Amino acid sequence: MAEIALRNLTIDFSGFKAVDDVSLTVKNGEFVVYLGPSGCGKTTTLRCIAGLVKATSGDVLFDGQRVNELSASQRNIAMVFQFVSLYPHLRIRENIVFPLKARGVAASEIRRKLDWVTDVFKLGDELDRYPSALPPGARQKVALARAVIRDPAVLLLDEPLSAIDEQFREEMRWELGHLQRQLGVTTIYVTHDQREAMSLADRIVLMNDGRIVQVSEPDRIFFDPVDVFAGQFIGSPSMNLIDLAPADGGLRLGDSGVTLTASDDGIPGWALSSSRPLKLGVRPLNVHLVDEGEPGVPLAVDDVFSVGRERFFSFRIGDAVCQGVDKRRAPGAPGRVHFAPEGLLFFDAATGRRVRAGDAA
Ligand SMILES: Nc1ncnc2c1ncn2[C@@H]1O[C@H](COP(=O)(O)OP(=O)(O)O)[C@@H](O)[C@H]1O
Ligand SMILES: [Mg+2]
Repeated sequence: MAEIALRNLTIDFSGFKAVDDVSLTVKNGEFVVYLGPSGCGKTTTLRCIAGLVKATSGDVLFDGQRVNELSASQRNIAMVFQFVSLYPHLRIRENIVFPLKARGVAASEIRRKLDWVTDVFKLGDELDRYPSALPPGARQKVALARAVIRDPAVLLLDEPLSAIDEQFREEMRWELGHLQRQLGVTTIYVTHDQREAMSLADRIVLMNDGRIVQVSEPDRIFFDPVDVFAGQFIGSPSMNLIDLAPADGGLRLGDSGVTLTASDDGIPGWALSSSRPLKLGVRPLNVHLVDEGEPGVPLAVDDVFSVGRERFFSFRIGDAVCQGVDKRRAPGAPGRVHFAPEGLLFFDAATGRRVRAGDAA
């Protein structure tokens, strides 16, 4: 096990900063998930930690020791990628013990370790089969078993489940989280899938454009995003984002002609007195279409649709298509739109940064 630290890590590909001044400490035994859109620098960061890509500037430290100059094989890391390559001509047991054989580990030790990973990964029935006889999920398990059999200090996983069918992915995800906790190995897991990140991570590192946007526990990143990007990247369906312009006594909701005021909408006073344009971020579960006569504002409903037992509705403000939950007693009855006060997030319209009580001007 090891603690991994990145200090002002920058990785430049002929003038393009794929990783831009990233600092982060991953604690011993921690499961950290790197999350962000395709191209934001996740794989490059992981490959640099592995020793496969050189830092342009900044440092990579394992347990406080700088490892920039160490090769991948000197770092005691194990890496598993999206597309597993098992040796097709070797049985599963030979694939798994390959890293130990290559290091000349004693046969008795190899047997002991093989028993251990076979048990942990429940691969007993597969040992004498060949990779081609296994479904992708099982092959990925073999790759993980092969990765951990030599007790790496660090486990690096780059979208390891994304080539697996949806139905097995859920199960593999659960097993992987369980295994990591059992093994206690420091793990960095890369994904663009927020659901994977939310369910696996001790902490999520949200990245965009080569930079870290936010580092927090999964719940906090959902409830307390630092900016518009974080608010919209996490959560499905995605957070509604509505322009708010200061108008006398309230905040005008985009081009809707509706002004939110303290009395009818529970908008905090500091936001109402903001002199700069804001954006309102509110998740669909916190927007309710309620019966006429209940607190809310008059906004035209675009569409109503059902997902399972819930009825959702959509409405438009400017270019933004927003969603909420239809709570009217009778479908089709006239209604008003209520924004649940506890679900309102405010952002600076110009910078996208979160604005909270106390920092509005
Ligand atoms: N070897 C390379 N040379 C030049 N550009 C690269 C190289 N590797 C990655 N990039 C660029 O760096 C950015 C980040 O890539 P990557 O780390 O693979 O993103 P992610 O894994 O988040 O999808 C991308 O724009 C990619 O095109
Ligand atoms: Mg990648």
